[in-house]
Amino acid sequence: MAASLISFLLVAPVLLTAAGPVHGSSNDTVPLVIWHGMGDSCCNPVSMGAIKKMIEGEIPGIYVLSLMIGKNVIEDTENGFFMDVNQQVSMVCSQLAQDPKLKAGYNAMGFSQGAQFLRAVAQRCPSPPMKKLISVGGQHQGVYGLPRCPGESSHICDIIRKALNSGAYTDMVQKHLVQAQYWHDPLNDDLYKKHSLFLADINQERVINETYKKNLQQLEKFVMVKFLQDTVVDPVDTEWFGFLKTGQAKETETLQQSVLYTEDRLGLAAMDKAGKLVFLATEGDHLQFTKEWFDKNLLPFLH
Ligand SMILES: *[C@@H]1O[C@H](CO)[C@@H](O)[C@H](O)[C@H]1NC(C)=O
Ligand SMILES: *[C@@H]1O[C@H](CO)[C@@H](O)[C@H](O)[C@H]1NC(C)=O
Repeated sequence: MAASLISFLLVAPVLLTAAGPVHGSSNDTVPLVIWHGMGDSCCNPVSMGAIKKMIEGEIPGIYVLSLMIGKNVIEDTENGFFMDVNQQVSMVCSQLAQDPKLKAGYNAMGFSQGAQFLRAVAQRCPSPPMKKLISVGGQHQGVYGLPRCPGESSHICDIIRKALNSGAYTDMVQKHLVQAQYWHDPLNDDLYKKHSLFLADINQERVINETYKKNLQQLEKFVMVKFLQDTVVDPVDTEWFGFLKTGQAKETETLQQSVLYTEDRLGLAAMDKAGKLVFLATEGDHLQFTKEWFDKNLLPFLH
């Protein structure tokens, strides 16, 4: 979400010039794959472009691939609203498999919806291996509501909100609207489980796909960042894999209280036990953090 990242840059004006830690002459950095959020693109100089530069400055020699979904930045932005997510994930899987620089494995960092899309990559495409997954404001149990959209795209969001309200689980809307594919309506749990083409599948709502479970557990770490004053994501618990309790739209439950965890349908309980799940919280609205916070809390996972 470009708008919020602009303020991130304003609070961290030194980020592009900051000197990183000195590494040895050998290039043993782990490559990083980034997937942007809704309304943003791979290469926006004030969002993903700035993040890429910042990380390249901190970890000399690192290969950072900021994913572009489509042939150019405009397509990339539009596809974040309108392209079948399963198709996006499979495109990314083949791109990663063909990139010789990723052969030995990579870390992944997803922003907002890009985080749950990268989790699908981890679950479906074990080669090349994803080592660590860092979810920055991701929506792992989906969303129920679209309270606010990033500035430049607010007219698109009005259209999307209408479509979601009128029939998020119709095949037409599911196929063509990205946000419908992670729309999670706790009052219509049967519809969600049956018709959600993306989220219900990766969250093992219909069947337990043992491959997903096995692949996700290959991660060394799964880090989830929650924004404490988030006004974009509803409910914010989803950023830590929690959600609204089924059958009502008020009370929430944590990941640890959910059936997904108690039945360990996805391997998350096992990962938690093994110390692989990391839950981080930070003050601020959606995707707003300072360079100091990033360096202290996320950078250590990228080495
Ligand atoms: C380090 O390796 C990566 C991946 O092969 C490559 O993209 C990058 O240019 C290398 N960096 C240096 C400084 O050699
Ligand atoms: C489980 O996931 C794998 C990897 O995406 C897929 O090839 C397979 O068809 C899935 N199996 C079921 C039962 O959905």
